[in-house]
Amino acid sequence: MANGTGRAHWGSRLGFVLAAAGSAVGLGNIWKFPYITGEYGGGAFVLFYLLCILVVGLPLMYAELIIGRRGGKDPLGALRALTAHAGPGAKALSVFTGILSVAGGFLILSFYSVVAGWAIHFLLVSFGVFPLGEGGAGAAFGALVGDPKLSSLWHTVFMLLSIVVVARGVHDGIERACSILMPALVGILVLLLVYVGMRGGLAEAVTFLFRPNFHALKPEGMLEALGHAFFTLSLGMGAMITYGSYLSRDSTVVRDGVAVAVLDTVIALLAGLVIFSVVFAAGKEPGQGPGLVFVTLPDLFASMPGGTFVGAAFFFLLIFAAWSSAISLLEVVVTFSIDEFGLTRHKAAWVFGAVIWGLGLASAFRGSVLDFLDNLTTRYMLPIGGIAIAIAAGWLVKKEDREAGFRDLGASGPLFAAIWTVIIRFVSPVAVGLVVLQKIGVLKFGG
Ligand code: TRP
Repeated sequence: MANGTGRAHWGSRLGFVLAAAGSAVGLGNIWKFPYITGEYGGGAFVLFYLLCILVVGLPLMYAELIIGRRGGKDPLGALRALTAHAGPGAKALSVFTGILSVAGGFLILSFYSVVAGWAIHFLLVSFGVFPLGEGGAGAAFGALVGDPKLSSLWHTVFMLLSIVVVARGVHDGIERACSILMPALVGILVLLLVYVGMRGGLAEAVTFLFRPNFHALKPEGMLEALGHAFFTLSLGMGAMITYGSYLSRDSTVVRDGVAVAVLDTVIALLAGLVIFSVVFAAGKEPGQGPGLVFVTLPDLFASMPGGTFVGAAFFFLLIFAAWSSAISLLEVVVTFSIDEFGLTRHKAAWVFGAVIWGLGLASAFRGSVLDFLDNLTTRYMLPIGGIAIAIAAGWLVKKEDREAGFRDLGASGPLFAAIWTVIIRFVSPVAVGLVVLQKIGVLKFGG
């Protein structure tokens, strides 16, 4: 669909919503959400995370889509175009946000691809290529992360998959693939939920996830929950600005935003319920760290009738979900270099993909690098990028642009727009700022 400027657009409204859901749903839901929930004590962490999705995440998703669609470019270009009238401060903020976005794309994808590589390994485990030994999934995971060459191999495979799609462009690559496999992922999680419901552990898992114990929630956990709300919805680094820039003028996406947030949350909660049921049924600890999904589910598949098939299907779908997320991360970097430097898509995808691959080797070789990059991006870069985008959308973009932009999303009624405006101007920046400052120790509440 052309719009006169020559920019490629999503083939249909469904194309956009599938790509946005594909970006949002990924390792964040199935790998990260359960393990951080385990580490930060369950209930209260989950509640705070849900609150962040609703109060900060969804409004910011609209802000990014508005900036992307009206700016029609990569994050830097879109922000610069929309805030040009607002003086040098606005320009500095645009440059800052643009750089943060690209840096975020590089850093997140570098470790994300390593974790996706672990899923490739466990796909092969389910096929019996690497049989589970006596130590079960725990030992298999230990052996994998203890073998950096093997981790690097899967990381290489996953990066190649991502680069090939991005090099071919949004239309070819992303739209078609999402429509069947995303519902299949929900289906398999529901199936697993029914199975663990019969097998045991589900009641404890429900209690763990949904009974808040506010004493367990420390500033660090709050920051992690907030950061994860950004991470899981792909916010705070211009991914939705980039995808929004490929929206055609007449697509109304306000409901799509809600649908993406709901789907994303449902998948995370389903994954959490299944994984913690297995954890509690086996009498293990919830706070097992980044290996959690890989050390629990393969043992469940091994014990389950038809488990070989179910396990293989699960890891296949997980890899696919991670793939459609990785594509959106690389797309930020590639769109930026096309729009700002006039590189060809093909060249940008291969050159920057190779750089990201190289960076990722550090995470494949050292778990501490992976943790460091995960924390740096999730806890600091995404929330700070989110504040910058909220300030730009709320204060620096012209009133007409903001109002028309919000109307173009297809939202009905002035009340909704007024609520959104208040949130994006005041609530989001202040709330995110408070959580970050409190963790850094600049602010102290309570004890
Ligand atoms: N949301 C994805 C997940 O949960 C990861 C992701 C894709 C992402 N694009 C992003 C995270 C942009 C932050 C920013 O797996």
